[in-house]
Amino acid sequence: MTIVEACDSKTNTTPDFPMGWFSVSRSQELAVGEVKPVKAFDRELVLYRTRSGKAALQDAYCPHLGAHLGHEGRVIGETVRCPFHGWQFNADDGKCSHIPYCDEIPERARLRTWHTDEKNGEVYVWYHPENTAPQWELPDLPELDDPNWTSPRYTEHLVPAHVQDICENSCDPVHFAYVHNQQGIPDSEVTIDPDGRTMHLHSNMENNDFPSHLHAITYSPGFALVRNTYGPNAEMIMYNSPQAIDKHTTFMRWTLLVRKEIEDLAGDDVMKGIIDGLSDDYPIWANKVHRRRPVFCREDKPLVTFRKWVRQFYVTSQDQQEIA
Ligand code: FES
Ligand SMILES: [Fe+2]
Repeated sequence: MTIVEACDSKTNTTPDFPMGWFSVSRSQELAVGEVKPVKAFDRELVLYRTRSGKAALQDAYCPHLGAHLGHEGRVIGETVRCPFHGWQFNADDGKCSHIPYCDEIPERARLRTWHTDEKNGEVYVWYHPENTAPQWELPDLPELDDPNWTSPRYTEHLVPAHVQDICENSCDPVHFAYVHNQQGIPDSEVTIDPDGRTMHLHSNMENNDFPSHLHAITYSPGFALVRNTYGPNAEMIMYNSPQAIDKHTTFMRWTLLVRKEIEDLAGDDVMKGIIDGLSDDYPIWANKVHRRRPVFCREDKPLVTFRKWVRQFYVTSQDQQEIA
């Protein structure tokens, strides 16, 4: 994991957290019975896996005397037990189900339980500032179970930037030339699905070491997938599932896999080149500010489209109006 230092003068205001699904853990990093603290959306949360294998994410502080359940809390069956006085809370609805020294359970003894969905090797949480039920599902990625593809590779980075700024990167073909050493600005097109929510960027990356067609699919600010096609049966996918820790800090979880034809041809070079290229952006993110109203030029159409598209993920009128 790489840690990038934040710029001291980063004092501008940033938007709230956009709604949507955000990763809080890789599945393989949460064993049955494991309990861990998680920080996301500027909140303290507890993540655990019950004995039946269900991942649960709940507010961390016990309603009794405020102990943090993510520190020394224990899984008991389908509940988590507070380390302070042993109260147990259900994984599915957060209700207190057992107080070891009292047979009457107070009505308000309950933990807020977040909507989670586990797929694609990750545990996702649905975030909405008004706590609504999930409004869409994330896609399943069939490549993860396809024997024609390599097993996934992972890379992670803690970045001092708002989650929207990181998402914006996949709709910014001009920076490919300046930050990622692409020779010239690639031909690019941005489209949005009829549902209005999924955005696509198509770019011809002809002047790279490995020329490719890049297709970035942004499902929401919390999930973007990039597919690079180098030729018939020569594909790579990489997806980023960020965890919005607070408004200035994002933990990026990248997962990469290639078709085995690429590995046969180029060994690890393509994958290694892509992983190295990911860190090109970090010095920019570490030192930039978030511009609510950027000055755009005529050729910045993909970015303008992105800023209009991203408004739908915000709830407050200030964030909806000031972005773009
Ligand atoms: S603080 Fe959790 S049981 Fe007392
Ligand atoms: Fe980039």
